[in-house]
Amino acid sequence: MSDEPTLRTAADERGFNLGAAVDPNALRNDPSYWKTLRSSFNAVTPENALKMGPLRPSPNTYDFTDADAVVNFGVANDMYVRGHTLVWHNQTPHWFQAWDYTDDQLREFLRDHIHTVAGRYRAKIDTWDVVNEAVADDGTMRETVWYDALGEEYLDLAFQWASEVAPDADLYYNDYGADAINEKSDAIYDLLERLLERGVPVDGVGLQLHALGDHPDPESVAANIERFQALGLEVEITEMDVSFPADDVPDDPLEVQADYYRSIVETCLEVGCETVVTWGVNDANSWVANFKDFPERFTTEPLLFGGRYEEKPAYHAVRDALEN
Ligand code: XIL
Repeated sequence: MSDEPTLRTAADERGFNLGAAVDPNALRNDPSYWKTLRSSFNAVTPENALKMGPLRPSPNTYDFTDADAVVNFGVANDMYVRGHTLVWHNQTPHWFQAWDYTDDQLREFLRDHIHTVAGRYRAKIDTWDVVNEAVADDGTMRETVWYDALGEEYLDLAFQWASEVAPDADLYYNDYGADAINEKSDAIYDLLERLLERGVPVDGVGLQLHALGDHPDPESVAANIERFQALGLEVEITEMDVSFPADDVPDDPLEVQADYYRSIVETCLEVGCETVVTWGVNDANSWVANFKDFPERFTTEPLLFGGRYEEKPAYHAVRDALEN
């Protein structure tokens, strides 16, 4: 037996939340999966199970089976639980079409959804991604079903409704491609400033950090985190994974990947962001191998554990960062 602490022990001792996105089927069917999750991480989020589509098989029914499985696993194992996500334009139910509703009906629909889902988990979910990906890549507001019906005010309403039923949860805005200082994170900064000026109960910003093709400069990530903190917001890294362009892989990808994970955890520790969630437990379960054209564009081993749960150099790098 080695004396080295597990990743989870290192995170616990540092008061750091190190999480993974969880697939309820793997949790139920693969003992190595939940053993790895429980011994190596102290935070979880359902990868898909809390999204509107998976939760709502038909207009008048909810199926909480999968979401409960992940949330209850986290609570039972003393983990920090993130809820992902209440309002998004993707993964809505197949039966849900905006043209079946007036704008007022869509407002009621969204309020009911948020009250039902955030209310159910009020004692269990610590932090919610209330709104996901509301800003387009060019920095304009993304034209989603919610924006088209309600305008920017849909964010005000969503955060307000979540705070009504889950007053103790931290309420986050979450997005991708806004990890460093860039046009999109500038736009999100402006959006959050407007929300705060209007008194909207938003507590934090989630930076997804899907570092699949390029790896945002850690110094710029630090500066970005600090400017959100200066607005009075918390910042978490919510969906991290690290790949390479399929046609531009370095000679030592595992080492380069480990160095990047290390630099991000160190950055977080320096600036006081206390949570990093990786988007999956191990490479065999990563979305990158299955999503759209990603497997052609990127390498598909982006996580801390390999396909057979072996500890990768990135695992050791994150643990070292937490210990030092
Ligand atoms: C992804 C899941 O990982 C996939 O399994 C699913 O097919 C699509 O969604 N940004 C987010 C996450 O906020 O919800 C997405 O998760 C990845 C990008």
